[in-house]
Amino acid sequence: MKIIAKKDKDAVAQAAAEIYISALKENPDMVLGLATGSTPLDLYAKLIEANKKGDISFDRVKTFNLDNYIGLPADHEGSYEYYMQENFFNHIDIDPENCHIPPGISDDFPGFCQDYEAAIQAAGGIDLMLLGVGENGHIAFNEPAHKLQAMTHVAQLSPNTIQVNSRFFDRVEDVPTQAVSMGVGSILRSRKIVLLATGTKKKPTIQKLLQEDLIDPAFPISFLKAHPDATLIIEEDYLK
Ligand code: GLP
Repeated sequence: MKIIAKKDKDAVAQAAAEIYISALKENPDMVLGLATGSTPLDLYAKLIEANKKGDISFDRVKTFNLDNYIGLPADHEGSYEYYMQENFFNHIDIDPENCHIPPGISDDFPGFCQDYEAAIQAAGGIDLMLLGVGENGHIAFNEPAHKLQAMTHVAQLSPNTIQVNSRFFDRVEDVPTQAVSMGVGSILRSRKIVLLATGTKKKPTIQKLLQEDLIDPAFPISFLKAHPDATLIIEEDYLK
């Protein structure tokens, strides 16, 4: 894993934006894996700005989101479809047909999961995967467990994740308990991975990752150690 340490969350987003901007200039047909949560918001804002200035274009880019809650319609404020439209897609020159997000509502989630993997492969695989991390080390909704699912699947959220993510909902009871999530294998198949972590709450998570030379399903982020091109962009304070 390569580590880029920056002084604050804005500098983390700036370093990530520079990676995206140069990658998109080199290959305007990129396939991007995208994440939600509060961490990538500053990066999305910087990419929107670069797109508006004409530095980069998304008109040939394809995207695949990591995950989404089961049970929320696309227009629900907690849904990741809503998040992506509001925070990114509505503000850039991307073709909506090229944006793929797992649905919150479906009458065949297992069928969807298979089709999603096939669609990623048909697009040529993911060139650049963006990740955040949960305080418990989850990536996408791959929660700590004895065994992890390799490919896109229906995931159960852990009580810890439900509690932490309840800040995006009126009440903790409103947080869905299941999600569709790419698996650890779907993530590791990406050619390049960039993980962003900012804020004091993620410091112990990243310190544990950096201190232990272990790949442990009880700490899903540790699987990034097996990837040949994974970059962590974090705050300098995490290294102290
Ligand atoms: C959710 C998402 C993850 C994300 C995590 C961290 O649980 N499923 O993909 O990385 O939250 O979110 P935040 O950036 O808000 O801390």
